[in-house]
Amino acid sequence: MQIVFAASECVPFAKTGGLADVVGALPQELARLGHKVTVYVPYYRQVAAKVPEKKFTIRSITIPFQYYNRFAGIVDGGERDGVQYYFVDCPELFDREQLYGTQSGEYLDNWERFGLFSRAVLEAVKQLGVPDVFHVHDWQSSMLSVYLRTTYGFDPVLKKVGTVLTIHNAGYQTYYPPQTTEKLLLPWDTFTMDRLEHYDTLNFLKGGIVYSDVITTVSRRYAKEIQTPEFGFTLDGVLLRRAADLRGIVNGVDYEDWDPAHDRYIAAHFAAEKLDGKRKCRKDLLHAFGMSQVADATPVLSIVSRFATQKGFDLLADSAERLLAHNMVLLVLGTGEPYYERLFTEIASRYPGKVVVKVGYDNALAHKMEAGADIFLMPSRYEPCGLNQIYSMRYGTVPVVHATGGLDDTVESWNAVTKTGTGFKFKRYTPEALVQSLEEALRVFQDKDAWQMLMRNGMGQDFSWTKPAKEYEALYNEVARRRS
Ligand code: ADP
Ligand code: GLC
Repeated sequence: MQIVFAASECVPFAKTGGLADVVGALPQELARLGHKVTVYVPYYRQVAAKVPEKKFTIRSITIPFQYYNRFAGIVDGGERDGVQYYFVDCPELFDREQLYGTQSGEYLDNWERFGLFSRAVLEAVKQLGVPDVFHVHDWQSSMLSVYLRTTYGFDPVLKKVGTVLTIHNAGYQTYYPPQTTEKLLLPWDTFTMDRLEHYDTLNFLKGGIVYSDVITTVSRRYAKEIQTPEFGFTLDGVLLRRAADLRGIVNGVDYEDWDPAHDRYIAAHFAAEKLDGKRKCRKDLLHAFGMSQVADATPVLSIVSRFATQKGFDLLADSAERLLAHNMVLLVLGTGEPYYERLFTEIASRYPGKVVVKVGYDNALAHKMEAGADIFLMPSRYEPCGLNQIYSMRYGTVPVVHATGGLDDTVESWNAVTKTGTGFKFKRYTPEALVQSLEEALRVFQDKDAWQMLMRNGMGQDFSWTKPAKEYEALYNEVARRRS
């Protein structure tokens, strides 16, 4: 089967979060299953820096807008592990500092950037290979499904192609003025309440939900959650209407990148049956944070995260005093909303020698933190899937998480009687619940045998892409059958 991915991020070319990890790994697993998979990503400045040569496969595709045309090129990114990569080039839209915007906000022409991207992919496949199914991701490539069933509805080579939309995060949506419909050359009859219109704005993600054949999200629990007002970010109604076509498939992770047995960024390798290397990694991590004097009995907690309201750090701020009264060290790596950067910097200044925060994006350090810490903290308010808790388990770093979305699906609570479980979960989203859960973790940490059991339980979990890729494969078959 031929599958085309259109996505705004993909490891190793461009990444702001877990979407990039998924788009980096799932296609390769599908290729291993024998499918022909092609991935299209915008040719951002970040991508240009990673691709040695700008070799055009298509020099110019005309993308019409209301009063003008833009011209996109298709750059050949070559093949890696059986997957073909193409990049949509349009320097005036993609050759920028960041992927989506700066600290002062989203780029105002994102409607045009990702509208062009979606349409360029449709045009490109007509020359480079029409797939059986398009797999689009989040609001950024949602318009591909919309164009395919509207403007391109009568295209003889495209009209039978199926579409799958994966929602990685319903909290990220875009709202544009009604006139954007015309600017994108979409027929006005798409701007209705049951299609693209959303409270008098044009909403890309809503368009994806309405026009894609099947919608998936990245965990089973989140698939249910987004159909409620609490988690649907106002799209719960439309998602409920599409409930029969909405599925939850828990993400896998790429153990080639994230496994302490061969991770290239960490100080020593280790595995469940041979844990010695982890001590060295812990030392190395503490050293990287300028904390060489920490005793073995002191648990090291880590956080690696985008700094965003989603991630639940308000709970941490509200419970900092109680938490940090305990013997522990907290190491934080993150970047994002300035509010949270200030919040963490302020906590660190109140607890010198106990809390250290590094503001920034650092992949190598993220690996060291997974490997070297004892406990990984993810108090997310909501979490569609979450990858860091899954990475943590593989590194014997015990996750403490809020029982929401994918965190609930992937972490099993420690049971002291049966000695089963892989971490600690708190149900209510309150500072007290977080403190209680963490205090339980700290208690178990003192019992070396129990803790090792807990670590090994996590390290033995299999979250590779093998199973989820088969689930996607079944879904692509279903979608292709429906369209044939
Ligand atoms: P989200 O996609 O919501 O940010 P995930 O847990 O799915 O959350 O994925 C986050 C990914 O981004 C992980 O691979 C994580 O290691 C990485 N990451 C997040 N923040 C940073 C950072 N400051 N430095 C390096 N890697 C980071
Ligand atoms: C989003 C979600 C995260 C998920 C990732 C990959 O960024 O916030 O929970 O793991 O996408 O699907």
